[in-house]
Parts: sequence; structure tokens; C-alpha cells
Amino acid sequence: MKRTLLIIIASLFFATNLFADEGMWLPSLIKERISDMKQNGFRLTAKDIYDINQASVKDAIVHFGGGCTGELISSEGLLITNHHCGFGQIQAHSSVENDYLKDGFWAMSREAELPNKGLSVRFLVRMDDVTNKVLKGVTHQMSETERSTKVKENSQNIINEAKRGSHYDARVEAMYYGNQYFLFVYETYTDVRLVGAPPSSIGKFGGDTDNWMWPRHTGDFSLFRIYADKNNKPAPYSKDNVPYKPKKFLSISTSGVNEGDFTMVYGYPGRTQEYLHSEAVRYISEVSNPHKIKLRTMRLEIQSDEMSKSTEVRIKYASKNASVANAWKKWQGEAGGIKRLRTVEEKRAFENRFRIWAGKNKAYEGVVDTLAALYAKLEPLSFVNDYHSEAINANEIIRFAGMITAAAARNAKMSPEVSSSNIRAMMESFYKDYYMPVDKRSFIAIVGEYNKNVPDEFKPDYFKEIMRLHKTTESLANYIYENSIFSSREKALSFIEKGVTQDMFANDPAVVFYTAFNDFFNASIKPVYDQLNSRLTLLYRTYMRGQMEFDTKKEFYPDANSTLRITYGKVKGYTPSDGVYYKHYSTLEGIMEKDNPNIYDYDIPQKLRDVYSKRDFGKWTVNGTVPVCFIATNHTSGGNSGSPVLNADGNLVGINFDRVWEGTMSDIVYDPSVCRNISLDVRYVLFVVDKVAGAGHLIKEMNLVK
Ligand code: ARG
Ligand code: GLU
Repeated sequence: MKRTLLIIIASLFFATNLFADEGMWLPSLIKERISDMKQNGFRLTAKDIYDINQASVKDAIVHFGGGCTGELISSEGLLITNHHCGFGQIQAHSSVENDYLKDGFWAMSREAELPNKGLSVRFLVRMDDVTNKVLKGVTHQMSETERSTKVKENSQNIINEAKRGSHYDARVEAMYYGNQYFLFVYETYTDVRLVGAPPSSIGKFGGDTDNWMWPRHTGDFSLFRIYADKNNKPAPYSKDNVPYKPKKFLSISTSGVNEGDFTMVYGYPGRTQEYLHSEAVRYISEVSNPHKIKLRTMRLEIQSDEMSKSTEVRIKYASKNASVANAWKKWQGEAGGIKRLRTVEEKRAFENRFRIWAGKNKAYEGVVDTLAALYAKLEPLSFVNDYHSEAINANEIIRFAGMITAAAARNAKMSPEVSSSNIRAMMESFYKDYYMPVDKRSFIAIVGEYNKNVPDEFKPDYFKEIMRLHKTTESLANYIYENSIFSSREKALSFIEKGVTQDMFANDPAVVFYTAFNDFFNASIKPVYDQLNSRLTLLYRTYMRGQMEFDTKKEFYPDANSTLRITYGKVKGYTPSDGVYYKHYSTLEGIMEKDNPNIYDYDIPQKLRDVYSKRDFGKWTVNGTVPVCFIATNHTSGGNSGSPVLNADGNLVGINFDRVWEGTMSDIVYDPSVCRNISLDVRYVLFVVDKVAGAGHLIKEMNLVK
């Protein structure tokens, strides 16, 4: 008796331990997790992490540029994020003469810090559970449309209330497919300046070859500074602005991490889908990912080819290429992981158990089967949707033609001069990074795939006709790229020289192409697609609640939705395949092993070679070398890039920037044995700033602790 009890207790303990790494928790509810965190070594309180009355760690964290995370590391508004998060800004300041992407950039004085149009950072002021208020007046008899109208109306009132008399932004976000709602109140700063970035050969070391993989040696960081007005409040860029004084900034630990150490990641994961039906997972891993991968492979090969021929093209396409390659590679890892874990089969088995249970629970009866039936209807449309975005809208001038037509229509009420100056500005920024041969070659390839793979019934008549005329997408491309004004900056600008009218673009072949697809999509695909999706949303709300009632032992967390989350775990190596074990950290030695002037991704700056050969590591030496990256079991996602990795005392030990290849399916299914987040060791940041950049003045601003 005693023994069985012991076994039960032991297995309970084991079970919670096993799942401790999975989960993206809401900061305001972290008190519910704090004892588990403490058991795993954490030494702060829930209020240290999230509090609305006093400064807490949350006040040192920002949503950076909408897609990444950043954190404050000095009392003077200094902020660190990833190199790939600041990449767009670094690129925007770069030219062939001042190539900051290639050579790096370091502001040696405050005056030299570079302002960035369009960049903003957002602090979370507070978050509240507003479920009751959002659902006020919602009844079971309501249709999904009625419900969503009511929810929108209530949410808008909550938002207005939250914003009243302040300069704050507010949003209401659904959790658990609308079973719970939270209000998020934000304060946004728009004067954010570039302070420093290492050369890409450090910041993007390993490039797309090493991306999503371990072992890794990327110095993926860049530094910015937030500026505010004299009252420390947000203000548009002005040279009179002063460095922002944060409520809280992070101290930096120089002690590093050991295997088994507690770590937590605090940031803005974008989107996860952990509670999907098996049919959705099957579509993603067996259909959608493979097709999208093939389309992007074609584009990437063309980009690489043109980029290798010219520095100008390399700079123009650096950022586009990185973002195309990033998802492309992740989809491959994700599909592989889902297959390896047999997630589709596992989900089906779960759904069978759920179905039996739901037979006795009226509220959930039939849910899994109705979901399957809806997915069967949705699948062909999802396929068209995928091709619409990856093969049609992925053509640069086609998408741009659409943007310009929309802008011309919006501007119709303005004077022709104002309208044309708006449109001229859009053109200048588009053509800065445009190289026609890349776009045209891609068009031939991916529109060709569209033609081959999308069933005729889902193609616009216009396209079927024009293909009958042209026979090949090459001939079609010749026609469009020769005759459209959008295929060159000169043609486009001279076309609008005398002003802009609403329909002057209408007959342009790129516009005609765009419009035909867009109209067809909006008329014939989208209504059905949206309607099916809204039925899915409704059902998922029930299914989600059902999953929570069915498995009362499981600890549920809401899917990521670009709101602030906490995830925690341990520094830990892993076994990627039989007979292989990966250590939890990498060092400068690995960079030197990979260094090769003939391989673009591995060609490090001479300065780093010199520092290495003199072994001039100064106080950043650890066991004769310098630590570079480490991995841990934190459950992160896209958007967590740049997130602080904190130790048990809440001090900064790393900057999150990636996940390991074997674990990229964690947005859909998390496997504690191989899911690892990859962080830059903050000591490598200090080493690069000090020894490679010679920007020690920045380190003086920081608070280093043991
Ligand atoms: N995989 C990381 C993330 O998802 C880094 C991406 C940027 N780096 C690159 N080589 N494309 O954002
Ligand atoms: N690199 C990703 C980002 O930009 C984070 C890595 C991930 O997806 O886990 O947010």
C-alpha cells in the first residue's frame, strides 16, 4: 500500500517535472506557476516579474518593431535585441560606400546614433482578464456572427475606457480560442536609434547554412537606444529628445550558465497552434509545407544566383533573402519533426479517446468529427490560399502594383500633387531594394508552379486565357515585365510625373494581373474560406474547452498570439540522433574551426582573427576561450527573437534567437527531449563590443554583476 502510494507520488512528481519545460505563460497569472519555477531553481517572486504598482522585470521588456522582443540594459535607454531583428534598420542605413551590414556600425557618441523611420517599441503597461466584460450580453442562442459583433463592440468599449485620458494603446486579445479575453495596455516609443551592430559575419555568422541549427556560433545582437521627450514620454523623433529613463533595466550576469541551471525567457512569441485537430496537422506537414518549400527553393536559388554576381544586388536582397530563407528552412524542420513524432497519428488516437468521452458529454459530442468534415472542405481552399500568397503575391511588382492601386484609390480625394508625392515616396522605397531580373526570373518559376498545381476551377478566367495566348510563363513574364511601368524605377517615376489620378494605372499589365487574381480570390475563394474558418473558430472554442475538461491533469496554456509570455526551463544538451550527444554550449573555438574566407557564411572579420591569434580575450576569458551560444529547454517561438534569457536571480545571461532543427515543430507539438531554444551568451556580446568593436563606453553604461 505504502509502496503504491510512493510510486503514485513519484510518478506525479515525475510527470510535472517532465512537462515543466512546455508552456508559454501569461505574466499576470505567473503566481500560479511560481512554486513550480521555484522548485526548478528560480529565486524571485511573482511580483518581481510582473507588477503594476512597482517596477518589475516586465518594464525592462519591449515588443520591438512588432515582430521581435528587446530589453533595456542601461539606465539610459540602451536596448539589446537580435542582429536579425535590427537587420532592416541596419540595411536601411547601408549603401555600397557605408556598408554597415558588412562592416558593422558603432556609434562612438550619442550624436552618431542613427534614427529609424517607422521603428517603434512598445512597453506593456498592464494586462487584465476582461472575459466577463467581453462576453457581457453574449448568449448561447447567438450565431457566431452575432457573437463576434457583440464581442467586438464590448471590446471596443473596454479599449476606449483603457485609453481614455492617456497616450496609451490598448487591445483586447482572445485566449484559448475565445474562452478567455485579456486587455493589454501599451505605451509606444517611436524615437528608437541604432547604436551598434557587429558585422554580419559575426551577427549573422553561419547565415542560412547554420540557421535553425545547433551547434551554433552566431553573434546575433544589435543595440538601439530609446529616446523620449523631456518628461520621459514618447515623442516623435527630434534632436531635442533625450535618452529614455527606464522604470527598470536588466543587470547583466557575467557568471554564465551551467547545464541544469534554471533559465526563463520573457518576450513576445507570435503564433503557436498546440491544440490543432489531426487533419490540420496533416495538411500542414504533408501538403502545405512541401508545396511552400518548393516554391521558396526556386526563389532562393534565383536570389542567390543574382546576389553572388553583384554587391549592389546582395545589399538590396539581403533582408528579403533572409526572410524567405528563414520560413523555408523552418517548414522543413517542422514537417520532419511532426513526422518523426507521429503527431498526426498521436492526435488521431487522442481524438478517438475524446470521441468516446464526448459520447457521454452532450456539449462535446461530434466535435472532432465535425472538425474533420470542415477540414475536408477547407483543404482545397487552403491550398489555393497558399498558392495565392506564395506564388502570386510573392511576385514583387505584382504585389507592389496592388499596393499602388490601393493607394491611388485612397488618395482620390487628395489633390493630384499630394497624391503623387505620396506615391512617389512609396516608389522610392520600393525601388531602393528592387532588382528586376530577380523578380522576373522568380515570376517565371513560381507562376509556372501555380499553373501546374492549382486546379483549373480555382484559377481566374483571365489567367486561363492569357496562358492560352502565351503558352509559357516565360512568354507571359516577357509581356508583363516589358510593358508594365512597374518593372523599373525610371518608368514608374516618369509615369507619375504629371500627377496621379485614381485610375491611371488600371491598364498596366502588372495591375491587370494583380486585379484579376485579387478580384477572383475575393469573389470566389475568400467568402467560402472565411465562412469555413469562422465555423472552425466556433468549434475550436468548444473543442478547446472540451480538451481542458477531458484532461484535467494536463496544464494548459494559451497559444502564442504576440502577447507577452514567460517560459522557463533548464540549460540542457540533447541527442539529435542515435549515438550523438550535443553539449549545451559553444565557444569561440567553433568559430575558428568554421572560419573560411572562401565561404561567405563563414568568413569572419580579420579583427576577430587577430584578437583570436593574440588570445586577447581579457576579462571575458572562460577556460581559455570565450563562450558564444547555449541551449535550454525554454518553449519559444518566432517573435521571441531578442528576448532576454534570465537566470534564477533575474539577471540577463543570454539573448534568445533561435531553436534547434530537431525541435522546430514546437509551435505545433513540443517534445522535451529535443526542443531547445538557442541563446547568445551575453558574455560573447560583451567580448564583441569590447574587443572587436572597441566600444567599451557602452559597457560602462551597463550594470554587470557576478
Ligand atoms: N531562425 C531565426 C528566426 O526565426 C533567425 C532568423 C534570421 N537569420 C537568418 N539566417 N535568416 O528568426
Ligand atoms: N528567430 C526567431 C524570431 O525571429 C526566434 C526563433 C524561433 O522561432 O524560435 O523570432
